[in-house]
Amino acid sequence: MNTQAILRDEDTFLIPTYKKMPVALVRGEGCYVWDSDGKRYLDFYGGHCVTPLGHCPSKVVDAIKQQSERLLFYSNVVYNDVRARVARLLAEMAPLKRIFFCNSGTEAIETALKIARKSTGHSKIVSMVGAFHGRTLGSLATTWNPSYRAPFTKVLPNSHFLPIGDLVAAESFLTQNKDTAAVLIEPVQSIAGMVGAPDEYFRGLRKLCDSTSTLLIFDEVQTGVGRTGTFSISEQFGIVPDMITLAKSLGSGIPVGATLLSKTLSDEVQYGDQGSTFGGGMIAMSAVEATLQTIRADSLMDRAPKIFDAITEAVKPIALEMRGHGCLIGIRIKPKVSSILPALRERGVLAGGSADPNVMRLMPPLIADEKHIAEFAEAFRDAIEDVQT
Ligand SMILES: Cc1ncc(COP(=O)(O)O)c(C=O)c1O
Repeated sequence: MNTQAILRDEDTFLIPTYKKMPVALVRGEGCYVWDSDGKRYLDFYGGHCVTPLGHCPSKVVDAIKQQSERLLFYSNVVYNDVRARVARLLAEMAPLKRIFFCNSGTEAIETALKIARKSTGHSKIVSMVGAFHGRTLGSLATTWNPSYRAPFTKVLPNSHFLPIGDLVAAESFLTQNKDTAAVLIEPVQSIAGMVGAPDEYFRGLRKLCDSTSTLLIFDEVQTGVGRTGTFSISEQFGIVPDMITLAKSLGSGIPVGATLLSKTLSDEVQYGDQGSTFGGGMIAMSAVEATLQTIRADSLMDRAPKIFDAITEAVKPIALEMRGHGCLIGIRIKPKVSSILPALRERGVLAGGSADPNVMRLMPPLIADEKHIAEFAEAFRDAIEDVQT
């Protein structure tokens, strides 16, 4: 199929919910993807923050192949060997040891919100200005950007937004709203432009939630699975949330999400509180197993801060500010990112924009090395020069 035909058929038959790059990708290997014309791109967009091991990592591909010949699927009405192994492995690697498997980030958030509401008996959820938590109705209610929420406000549960990093605002809200079930926070607000907060803020929030009997939920759909240097970014703050949501990197591209719970919360969960036909399916579990085993065996999490430092060094003369952690990187630049991204694509590099017109997002895989970073830096310098001249 040629590029023109691919673009035409998607644009004709798919409902227009996405603003797409005009690129049809048909193959991937490691840090690179190829389009239908055979052009190669260095993928520092990571397939939308999804590919911690790069594209088509052989261990994940082999695991899926082998599993597909044994058992493609059986639901949670039965036990299964690969699901049991992944549950143990995830519990070994993550700070919370009780798991619900689903298929996407938004479902992982929905699960956390349901459990928080049932456990506390309260319905109010607080999230942060700038937050993105997904598009199904529960998680959409906690997503800040009005352009996503506005058409649906009539059917969304009541939501409250606080400024991220402001402990005084959090204290004032939580002490006056004793009917708050949970604070939901994306520790690095990726889509907002890699907006974060100091470690002390997260420690303060933990204390505040404890003193007001409010649950603390970390949305680690982007930060999780080692992308920031530890399995959960909460480990870097020295705190343990009550729940953590994971998706994106977890299955190296196979759809899978997970909500991790404390044992205390898990003990309160009853049959029927949540469910998913496909959650914990065998193909997804085989991809998660190979992904987690590789991250652990190859010490890939240790690479994340090094990649951040190397990219910081490489873009030093141009970047106005570096944001984020590990392989979740924001670069503030003078020109509009919307003008740089096409220039980068022309030079064979994929990167992302954000809600901040001057913050470019990079979500490289944990396997990116000096050669890839040098290749990115050269294209980045040329693209900026192009746009400024
Ligand atoms: C922080 C965060 N939470 C939740 C989601 C929703 O995940 P999904 O698109 O898999 O439903 C996203 C998606 O981009 C996200 O970035």
